[in-house]
Amino acid sequence: MAEWFAGRVEDFTEDVRTIVEIDGSDVVVLRAGEKFHAVANTCLHMGGPVGEGLVMGRVCAVLDEQKRLVREEFSQDSVQIVCPWHGWAYDIDSGAFAGDERLRLRTYPVQVREDGVYVIA
Ligand code: FES
Repeated sequence: MAEWFAGRVEDFTEDVRTIVEIDGSDVVVLRAGEKFHAVANTCLHMGGPVGEGLVMGRVCAVLDEQKRLVREEFSQDSVQIVCPWHGWAYDIDSGAFAGDERLRLRTYPVQVREDGVYVIA
């Protein structure tokens, strides 16, 4: 197992993303709230730069007792990253594609230490 330094904790505001090269592949490291994430930066659709996409709560349907749609809202618990090229959305924790969870971007553990943020692979 190896580790890659991604940056100092204070350098990661909500809009800052860092690319770390792991075994020849780009991995994007970002912060969503208080949590850090590391996700493969190559979209499974056509190779787009996933790490340049929006990070947002998953859109969830709110249904009534008859299973009719009442409204849609953004989840506070489930966060996605959306590829900027054609909108494929991936769960930022598991890497699962929203349209077919069998397809997954690789995700990596992240450790936050006093001296910085590290991706473990
Ligand atoms: S390349 Fe990412 S959605 Fe098409």
